[in-house]
Amino acid sequence: MKCRVCRGPAVIDLKRHNANFCHEHFVAHCEEQVRRAIHHFSMLAPGERVLVAVSGGKDSLAAWDILTRLGYPAEGLYLGLGIDAYSDDSLAAARAYAEPRGLTLHVVDLAETHGFTVPGAAAVTRRSPCGACGLAKRHEFNRVARDLGFAVVATGHNLDDEAAVLLGNTLRWETDYLARQHPALPAGRGFARKIKPLYRLGEREMAAYCVLEKIDYQVDECPMAAGNRHLGYKETLNELERRSPGSKAAFLFGFLDRMLPLLDPAAHAEAADVHPCTECGEPTTGDVCAFCRLRERAATA
Ligand code: AMP
Ligand code: FES
Ligand code: ZN
Ligand code: ZN
Repeated sequence: MKCRVCRGPAVIDLKRHNANFCHEHFVAHCEEQVRRAIHHFSMLAPGERVLVAVSGGKDSLAAWDILTRLGYPAEGLYLGLGIDAYSDDSLAAARAYAEPRGLTLHVVDLAETHGFTVPGAAAVTRRSPCGACGLAKRHEFNRVARDLGFAVVATGHNLDDEAAVLLGNTLRWETDYLARQHPALPAGRGFARKIKPLYRLGEREMAAYCVLEKIDYQVDECPMAAGNRHLGYKETLNELERRSPGSKAAFLFGFLDRMLPLLDPAAHAEAADVHPCTECGEPTTGDVCAFCRLRERAATA
């Protein structure tokens, strides 16, 4: 197996690209995919400060690493969700990445700051923990970005994540969600810009990147997410990919190129009639935002 670029010994084969790469040229490939993502969707201005939401997993740590390599001053934000040992280990991984590299990691703990945890909120609402978790993440990423003066928040969503979400939204023709499945959601009133610089790179690529670059990451999946629909979609897509390499990327990139432009941008929640939440000041369409309503229920439980 020889590297496509230098013909030296390859360390990874990428069927989708019909290519093998050595360590050096694989890293260059990852950088190039992120550069292309940023360019294609005008995610960042040259040298723009960016807040990277880091979970301690491979994707967000790789996103932080690659953005830094590409010269963007990137700081990390870890949100403590209170999922026992899983959260403790995730924070430890994020710290172990940031400290030796002299990078700034901001840590916000849901319990300390807002008096509730994701498992606690799931118990009172009797809904899936992932719903409460997603709500808390969206709210806190945006609030912290504003407090720290960042115009843009990056997440580690990769090609596999995006294709799985796309499959779920397409199966139900969730047109509002589809319209917002944009790799670079522009800023709206009170909303920071949100970017997904890894959308062109798959899960396997990100794991290989971290191993090769000696980035230790939280390997475990969130225990609360086990068996959820999203994981089922990923498995289904992996099966399709196995039979026909490249189908995942064709599905996602075809959507981004050909369907997304047809969806009405007014369907973006960010474009709706929003004003500051009377409790926390974050943008909402009601009086009190969904996060504050959840916090009240969870805290009085
Ligand atoms: P997930 O929703 O767990 O698939 O995570 C998607 C992205 O959200 C990750 O790649 C991170 O960028 C971000 N993220 C997830 N969990 C956290 C967390 N606890 N703190 C900060 N960012 C997170
Ligand atoms: Fe959100 Fe597990 S990380 S429910
Ligand atoms: Zn090479
Ligand atoms: Zn609020």
